[in-house]
Amino acid sequence: MAEKNGFPAMKNDRLLRAARGEEVDVVPVWVMRQAGRYLPEFREERAKCDFFTMCQTPELSCKVTLQPLKRFPLDAAIIFSDILVIPQALGMEVKMQPGEGPVFPAPLRGPEDLTRLSSPVDVCSKLQYVFDALTLTRKELQGRAPLIGFSGAPWTIMAYMIEGKGSKTMSNAKSWFYKYPDASHQLLKIISDATVSYLVGQAKAGAQLLQVFESHAEHLGPYLFREFALPYLKQICDEVKERVSQLGFEDIPMTVFPKGGHFALKDLAALKYDVIGIDWTVDPILARELVGPNKTLQGNLDPCALYADKKFINSSVKEMLDKFGRNRYIANLGHGIYPDMDPEHLAAFVEAVHEHSKK
Ligand code: CP3
Repeated sequence: MAEKNGFPAMKNDRLLRAARGEEVDVVPVWVMRQAGRYLPEFREERAKCDFFTMCQTPELSCKVTLQPLKRFPLDAAIIFSDILVIPQALGMEVKMQPGEGPVFPAPLRGPEDLTRLSSPVDVCSKLQYVFDALTLTRKELQGRAPLIGFSGAPWTIMAYMIEGKGSKTMSNAKSWFYKYPDASHQLLKIISDATVSYLVGQAKAGAQLLQVFESHAEHLGPYLFREFALPYLKQICDEVKERVSQLGFEDIPMTVFPKGGHFALKDLAALKYDVIGIDWTVDPILARELVGPNKTLQGNLDPCALYADKKFINSSVKEMLDKFGRNRYIANLGHGIYPDMDPEHLAAFVEAVHEHSKK
C-alpha cells in the first residue's frame, strides 16, 4: 500500500508521534552514528571506497543506512551522509583522512576568503545525490521506520571551514567573532541560506524529520551562542517550516542538538524546533525543567556506557527512562556511538528501551 505522496505506508511511526507529542506504544529509539564503523558490514563496504564517494553514491548510501535496521529493531533510519557536504557544495575541498577525520586543505583564513565561496543558491544542484539517496532509502525502508535527514548548524560548519580540521579550542574560528564580527555574520548567513534550501530539498526528497547538529555548541558559552548561533538556528527552523508548508507538505518535525550547550537549552526551547537533543552531561530532570513541557527531549546515555556489561546497560536505560518519562521522549545516546563498540551492546541498549517503556 502506498500513501498519497507515493511512498510506502508507515508501519512504525513512533519517532514522528513522539516528536509531535503524541502517545506511543513504546519509547522510540535510534542512535547517532548508527550507520558506521562499529558494524563489520559497514567496514566491509567502506574498505571498497572513499568516504565521500560513499556519500555521493545513492545506492551505497542507502545500503549502509539500512544496515543497522537489519540488525536491531530501531525506530528510525538516518541517511548516511555528512554535515561537511555543505562546505563542499560551497566550493571548499574536504578530505576524510584515515585516523584524523575531516581535513580542509585550504581553510578560510580571513574575511577576504569569503569571495571564494559559491552562492548558497547553487548549493542544492550540487547536493542532488543526497536527495536521490533519501528518495531511494525512503522507498527501500518500506515504512519499517521513519527516515531522518540532517545538516550541521551554521556555527559548527563555520568552525570546520576556518579550523580546517578538529580543534580542542576552536580558537581560530572563535577569533573571527572578536576580530571580524561583520564577516562572521556574513559567513553564518551564507551557510544558513544554503542549509535552509538543503533541508527543504531533503523534506521534498522524502526525509520525515530533520536534525540540525550543533556539535560545537560547547565552545561558545551563553554570550557567543546568543549572538552567533541562536539567530541562525532560529532562521533555519522558521524558514524550513514555512517553505515546507508553502509547498503543501505537512509540517516536518525538526530536532536541534546543541552538543555541550546546556546553557542554551532555555533559549532553544523558545524556538519552533519540536525536539531538543540532550548530551549526557545534562541530567534529564534538569533538561525537562529548562525546556518546559512542550518540547520532546532526545538522548542521553553516555555513549561510553556501551562499554559496560549488558546488565549495567539495562539498568542505566531503566534509570534514563524513569527520569525522562515515556511521553515527549526519544531515546538515544548523548552523542554518537564509537567505532570500537560491540554491536551486541547496542542491541542490549535498544532492547532495554523497548522492554522498560512498554505500557
Ligand atoms: O549514522 C549516522 O549517524 C548517519 C551518518 C552521519 C555521519 N556523520 C557519518 C560519518 C552523520 C549524522 C554525521 C554527522 C556529522 N559529521 C557530525 C555531527 C554529529 C557529531 O558527531 O557531532 C559531525 C561533527 C561530522 C563531521 C565528521 N565526519 C567528523 C568529525 C568525522 C570524523 C570522526 C570519525 O568518527 O571518524 C566524520 C566522519 C564520519 N561521518 C564517519 C561516518 C560514518 C567515519 C568516517 C569513515 O568511515 O572513515
